[in-house]
Amino acid sequence: MAVLAMAMHLLTLLLHESLPASLLSQAITGEPEFAIVVCRDKNGSEKDATGFQRQLRQISVLLKSAASLTSETLIFNIVADSYATYETVTNLTASWPAAYRQRVVFDDFKEVFFPPGTKKLRNLFRPCAIGKLFLAQTFEDKDAMVFLDTDTLFLMPPENLWRKVYEFNPHQVIGIAPCLYMCGPMFKKFPLYGSSGLNTGVLVMNLTRVRAFEGGWTENIIPIMEEYKTKLKLADQDILNILFSNETTAKHLYELGCEWNYRERLCSMGSSKCKRAQQLGVGLLHGAALTFVNGREKKFQAVFDEWEQHQLGESEETLLARLRTTLRGQKRSRGCSRLPFIDKMLLQGLENTLRGRH
Ligand SMILES: *[C@@H]1O[C@H](CO)[C@@H](O)[C@H](O)[C@H]1NC(C)=O
Ligand SMILES: *[C@@H]1O[C@H](CO)[C@@H](O)[C@H](O)[C@H]1NC(C)=O
Ligand SMILES: *[C@@H]1O[C@H](CO)[C@@H](O)[C@H](O)[C@H]1NC(C)=O
Ligand SMILES: *[C@@H]1O[C@H](CO)[C@@H](O)[C@H](O)[C@H]1NC(C)=O
Repeated sequence: MAVLAMAMHLLTLLLHESLPASLLSQAITGEPEFAIVVCRDKNGSEKDATGFQRQLRQISVLLKSAASLTSETLIFNIVADSYATYETVTNLTASWPAAYRQRVVFDDFKEVFFPPGTKKLRNLFRPCAIGKLFLAQTFEDKDAMVFLDTDTLFLMPPENLWRKVYEFNPHQVIGIAPCLYMCGPMFKKFPLYGSSGLNTGVLVMNLTRVRAFEGGWTENIIPIMEEYKTKLKLADQDILNILFSNETTAKHLYELGCEWNYRERLCSMGSSKCKRAQQLGVGLLHGAALTFVNGREKKFQAVFDEWEQHQLGESEETLLARLRTTLRGQKRSRGCSRLPFIDKMLLQGLENTLRGRH
């Protein structure tokens, strides 16, 4: 039986690329699992209040895009600093039409976890940013999940991203997209993965394997924190770059396609740094460094704004048509708007997803 199961699994892997999505989701069991980490700044300052409101708006858009584009039931794990924060986040879908609400199932509250010896770094970069590094310890009974920064939104079905975990070879533990521009060795005072480093806004994780990491996961992380303490500006991102810069550990990394973590930096110089997104369309848009709200990249902001204004229950074709019109109407003067195919890259995923439904 075990041999048969193995053979079936192998066959599934071999057929992976050519199988239609609907068949594939039947062949592979297990609901797609996602996680976000949300904390308020304990200072309770005015700046934090606006920061938290913005974060809620972004999470709301993330969940809305996920529910609109999925054809499965998604589990969302909300890791938070308090039950009150958890409740505020899970209540974001309370007013949605039932058909959409049912597609996003929230698992129980989990408090953000910091292993002993890491507490003093918990607020590095932003409140509890490093919490994402310890999800395998936070969810001791879960096998796999995709971590998402709260400033991300989907333009293709979330399950397509989740399925990457099934593409790992037996050594691979975690899937992260390359940074590709302006984060290579010239920009950092510590070692990095590969030629351009990693961006850790999206982490596809086999948690079982993280827990079994060679030499211990936390045991690998803590010495990095101690050695590079003063140089870690981007917290979790710097730590994972250092961890996977080692030849021995680099083989545990699965390189996620850049279309699943598409950031301003990949187009802001007016040249295309992510050929996969050019070919396949953007799968997940990441509004890193406030790109969804700060007015610097109008294309990114247009995608966020249209999703935010979109009413669930209205057809997704309406959203697509509005977005197309808005993008077309924008000036092509600076940043990402200078790419001749930027609109196509941002629309293609939605177009293909909606077309596939008919
Ligand atoms: C609280 O606010 C002060 C002043 O704005 C700042 O220096 C400090 O780092 C903040 N504390 C935390 C935990 O963020
Ligand atoms: C939950 O959301 C509903 C509908 O949006 C709102 O009326 C209610 O006040 C919210 N409750 C909490 C505890 O945030
Ligand atoms: C994660 O890794 C474990 C141990 O190798 C394996 O049994 C499990 O099937 C993997 N999970 C997924 C979703 O591939
Ligand atoms: C790389 O990692 C291995 C295994 O954890 C360790 O033995 C080795 O010292 C590391 N090398 C460097 C250059 O950090």
